[in-house]
Amino acid sequence: MKALILAGGYATRLRPLSFAKPKLLFPIAGKPMLERTLNSLARSGVDSAILAVNFMADELKKHFGSRYRRIRIRYSLEEKPLGTGGPIRLAMRLLGSRDNFLAMNGDILFDAELSNMLERHRIEKPVATIALYKVSDASRFGLVSVDHQMRVSSFLEKPMGQEPVGGLINAGIYLMSPKVFDYIQPDRRISIEREVFPILAKEDRLQGYELKGYWTDVGTLNDYLEANFSLLNIESSGKAVVQKEAEVSSHAILNPPCLVMRKARVGENAMVGPFTIVGEGSVVEEEASVQKSVLFNDVHLGRASRVDRSIIADGSRISRNVMLGEGTVLGAGVSVSAALRLEGGVKVCPYKEVTENVMGPTNIL
Ligand code: GTP
Repeated sequence: MKALILAGGYATRLRPLSFAKPKLLFPIAGKPMLERTLNSLARSGVDSAILAVNFMADELKKHFGSRYRRIRIRYSLEEKPLGTGGPIRLAMRLLGSRDNFLAMNGDILFDAELSNMLERHRIEKPVATIALYKVSDASRFGLVSVDHQMRVSSFLEKPMGQEPVGGLINAGIYLMSPKVFDYIQPDRRISIEREVFPILAKEDRLQGYELKGYWTDVGTLNDYLEANFSLLNIESSGKAVVQKEAEVSSHAILNPPCLVMRKARVGENAMVGPFTIVGEGSVVEEEASVQKSVLFNDVHLGRASRVDRSIIADGSRISRNVMLGEGTVLGAGVSVSAALRLEGGVKVCPYKEVTENVMGPTNIL
């Protein structure tokens, strides 16, 4: 089974983190997002993945090469972004004209078996089957209506009322027959959701399938943190996990759930967690504390500094006695001088030096 994975978006909502790293390589509870997706796909019988890339294609190629575990990896490179539909048409030759294939957004995390969906697709023979997921508040997504046979009848705009409206949303995983190529014009930026699926629904050739189990998409910084917290909690069974070659002082406090990754160091009287990941090679110096946060790799948190509900990208250095309040996001390689306070949602672009206090929602470019 082949799967086409959309991996070429700019991830504008994840700036400044996405300036230096493609979203699909962001760590989620210690593992790059796309590795998680490939593992889920392998469990459903996928043995060949095509990554639809453009923005930061080289980083993805360098990370995955031509194989990930048992999955063969190939790349379909766009010269300019083709949206969510154009890349499917562009990869037509690699996908072949005989067999059904999966196509999906690369920025979703799921832990569900797709074999029943494949089975339904074989029986019903629509042009495409969309995985649907039930949520209690669809205000960010838009709802999908299905009839009693799970044929998709219509797509509804995002419900915006005062009360949350629940229902089935598009989960971003599609099973497609090669007939879908006839519905996508070549060499054009196309939204599969807005330009192709409504036509298929009108022709009664679009099936829905309700996905059960864990599912989330990672669109915003808040989604990113929440996805880390959920998977950390599940995978650590609510415990404090210290990986091999990490060094944790016997006088440090680890509040579960938390994860201290390989070669990381947590100093004396430091406090890590709950809901915190200290990435590979990162250091939490003595008396520092970090909670509800994600530190990517090789981050240095200085003595007696405090970090709350923040994301700190690779190689950033925070000096002594710094306070990073809720919603701080530091891009890669940022440095913060001693005794500063960054509060109220401060976002700092990669490689910037912060040398004075910053209050309020501010972007440092
Ligand atoms: P935002 O800019 O924050 O909306 O993020 P995004 O660029 O990731 O867009 P969106 O969340 O809509 O993308 C859903 C999935 O499609 C992600 O896996 C993206 O990488 C991917 N994607 C979006 N646009 C393109 C594109 O033009 N080409 C390719 N190959 N993938 C895309």
